[in-house]
Amino acid sequence: MNAQRLIDTAKALMAGDKGLLAMDESTPTCNRRFAKLGIAETEAARRAYRDMIVTTPGLGECISGAILYDETIRQRTDRGLPFAQALAQAGIIPGIKVDGGAKELAGHPGELVTEGLDGLRKRLPEYVAMGARFAKWRAVITIGDGLPSRGCIDANAHALARYAALCQEGGLVPIVEPEVLMEGGHSLGQCAAITEDVLRAVFDQLHTQRVMLEGILLKPNMVLPGSTRAEQSTVDEVADATVASLLRTVPAAVPGIAFLSGGQSAELASARLNAMNVRFKSRMPWALAFSFARAIQQPALEIWGGLAANVPAAQQALFHRADCNRAARRGEYDAAADAPRRAPS
Ligand code: 13P
Repeated sequence: MNAQRLIDTAKALMAGDKGLLAMDESTPTCNRRFAKLGIAETEAARRAYRDMIVTTPGLGECISGAILYDETIRQRTDRGLPFAQALAQAGIIPGIKVDGGAKELAGHPGELVTEGLDGLRKRLPEYVAMGARFAKWRAVITIGDGLPSRGCIDANAHALARYAALCQEGGLVPIVEPEVLMEGGHSLGQCAAITEDVLRAVFDQLHTQRVMLEGILLKPNMVLPGSTRAEQSTVDEVADATVASLLRTVPAAVPGIAFLSGGQSAELASARLNAMNVRFKSRMPWALAFSFARAIQQPALEIWGGLAANVPAAQQALFHRADCNRAARRGEYDAAADAPRRAPS
C-alpha cells in the first residue's frame, strides 16, 4: 500500500473550497428518477445524462472528485472520451461506487446490509486501470420502532471496514458512507444519538480492520429530525447538532467529512453546510465538505428532461448548485440570493 499516495488523494479531494459530486446512482435508482420525469429508462439516456454532467463548463472550479457507477465508468462522452478521462481533463478526480447495494438483513425485518465484499479485491484493479483514485460504499441505517438494531449497525460497520481495508490495499481512497436515513417521525435528538452510535461502531471497526484513517473520507448524513416529523429544526439547530455528533465520534486523523444530502432540498443542504462552516470552522479538525447527488443534480435533471436542446440550461443549473456548495464550504453561501447564474463558458 502506498500510504502517502492515499493521503495525498484524500487531501486533494478536500482541497480549498471544493467538494464531491456523487453521480453513481445505480441503474435502478437512475431509472426511477428518470421515470418520474418521463425520461426514457435506457442506457443511451443514462449516458447522455452523465455526458451533460461531465461536460458542464467550469465544473472543476467547484468539484474536486466525482463518483461514477460501474456502467458510467465504461461509457464515453459524445466526443468519445471515457468519462473518467473527461473528468480528469476537467481537473476532477474520478471515483467509483463499488458496493453491491443494500439488501435485506436476515433475521432483521425492515433493516438492510450492504453487500459486495465477495470478489471485491479482484474488481478493484480494473477500476484503478480505468482511472479511479477513490471508491465509495454506502451502508443504510433505518430509524424506526426499535430500529436500528445492534445487529444491523454492527454488520454494516464491519462491511464498511472490510471494504475500506481492501480499497487501501488496492490503492483507492475509501469513502466510508454510513447513511442514517432521514425518513421517519423521529426527533433531532434521536437522530443524533443513533448517528453517534453508528459512527462509534464504524470507527471501532475501521481500527480493528487496520484502516489508515489519514487515507479515508467519511460521508455521513447530517443530523436531522425525521422527514415526517411536524416540528422541524432551524438551520442553526441542525448545524449545531451535526457538528456536536461529529466532534464526539470522528477522530481528528480523518482528513475530511463530505456529507450526503439524503433527500434534503438543494437549498437547505447548502444552507446547513454553510451554517456548520460559519459557526464551527475554527473548532473542527477536519475539512467539512459535500458529496451530494440529489442536492447538486436534481434541478439540472428536471431542466434536462432527456432533451439535448436543454443541455446548456441544465449545465447552468448544475454549475450553480455546485458553486453554491463551494460557497457553503467557505461559509459564504447567501441563501437569500440563491438564484441561478450563468456558468462561465
Ligand atoms: P444524495 O446526496 O442524493 O443523498 O446522494 C449521495 C450519495 O452518494 C448516496 O449514496
